[in-house]
Amino acid sequence: MKTIAALFLTLLLCGCDALNPSPEAVITKSGGDAPLEQTGKALYERNCANCHGLDGISVTNDVTQMKGWAHTPTGTFGKLDTAMMQGPGGMPRFDTLNTEARMKIYEHMKNF
Ligand code: HEC
Repeated sequence: MKTIAALFLTLLLCGCDALNPSPEAVITKSGGDAPLEQTGKALYERNCANCHGLDGISVTNDVTQMKGWAHTPTGTFGKLDTAMMQGPGGMPRFDTLNTEARMKIYEHMKNF
């Protein structure tokens, strides 16, 4: 009886291991491209599009238009950086996004 119980336990443990590979193993396998949530497009769509619109056309008149903004003389990365750090007017601050993420957002906004 003891033997059968031990055998059953062993099978159970092996089965569990095979069915639940560690999360690290899965992430390592996928490799390659940067995660989607870190592209400029995804960052913009998640953080900015609610107000500035998916294609830079603001959803309301009191929000600065981003369509073509990055191509104007005043539409510099420095200006965007300041806006994200300070949150002008009704805009929230985005000081939790690092410089790389802010630059990616700026690059994406050049598509508008
Ligand atoms: C809750 C709405 C809202 C969200 C979300 C938002 N903004 Fe804004 N943004 C505003 C408003 C309102 C202004 C205008 C503030 C003012 O000048 O009074 C503004 C201004 C700006 C300006 C300044 C433009 C200029 O010429 O001075 C930039 C750049 C900007 N936003 C970029 C962004 C980026 C990039 C994001 C995402 C990371 C973002 N905003 C998210 C509402 C928002």
